[in-house]
Amino acid sequence: MDISNGSVLITGGAGGFGGATARRLAKLGAKVVIADVADERGAALAAELGNGSVYLRTDIMSEDSVVAAVEAAKALAPLRAAVIAHGGPPPPDKGGRTVGRDGSRVSLAHFAHTIAVYLTSAYLVSSVAAQAMAGNEPLDSNQRGVIINTASIAGFEGQPGQVPYGAAKGGIIAMALNLARDLAPLGIRSMAIAPGTFLTFAYAMMGDDKAKETFGPLVLNPKRMGEPDEYAMLAQQIVENDFLNSTTIRLDGGQRF
Ligand SMILES: NC(=O)c1ccc[n+]([C@@H]2O[C@H](COP(=O)([O-])OP(=O)(O)OC[C@H]3O[C@@H](n4cnc5c(N)ncnc54)[C@H](O)[C@@H]3O)[C@@H](O)[C@H]2O)c1
Repeated sequence: MDISNGSVLITGGAGGFGGATARRLAKLGAKVVIADVADERGAALAAELGNGSVYLRTDIMSEDSVVAAVEAAKALAPLRAAVIAHGGPPPPDKGGRTVGRDGSRVSLAHFAHTIAVYLTSAYLVSSVAAQAMAGNEPLDSNQRGVIINTASIAGFEGQPGQVPYGAAKGGIIAMALNLARDLAPLGIRSMAIAPGTFLTFAYAMMGDDKAKETFGPLVLNPKRMGEPDEYAMLAQQIVENDFLNSTTIRLDGGQRF
């Protein structure tokens, strides 16, 4: 799909995956709405892209905020791609194994919060973006837009203590095909990327060196964490290649935990 005259919405657009993808899609000529709550990083990235792309403070937990971000993208140019790559507010408590050795149970609030951050919000962004894309003139290829969600290898084989996150990401994997079926008559594709472990801002608390030391050896080959631009390369290919539809692509260097 040619997005050179279009706009792109990226939730978590100031983040590791989102920022790398913004840089690549802006190079293709798209105007990007960087939708995030990281004001400083978001504004700096918009200035760096410098092609009419904007940062818009957007909370993915709020329907009004997501609708406003989609409207902002539409105001720039027809919305051709939505890349959903956000984190979210921290959970209300620590979580852990479903039932711990001490007999404690993961709270329902913790489970529900994780689903809200990683799955419900992804549906919200996907559906609002698709509604906007449905109003686009189709391109010569008869396509109107593409939606790219971010799953995780935890959606296939999560670790102990990852039931809420694995369930949310499993939901993303299921949603990729279901969205594709619903949106096919509108000429809108739906895909998901399931990353392994990538060095993004998500590991800032741990520190880059510690993260590399901990997670690099888990990868089959190459024996290192992924780089955000490797995610962005795949996102670009999904945007450009109209025959990619309805599936989740693992991007993990062969990691199987
Ligand atoms: N990094 C990895 O190893 C990895 C692996 C698998 C899946 N993922 C998934 O990739 C996605 C992006 O993660 P990342 O690694 O790029 O992390 P990141 O921390 O670099 O980026 C996430 C971005 O989301 C933003 N954000 C936080 N709360 C928000 C809110 N309420 N509204 C809007 N934006 C908000 C943050 O400010 C940040 O810029 C997540 O869904 C994560 O689960 C990451």
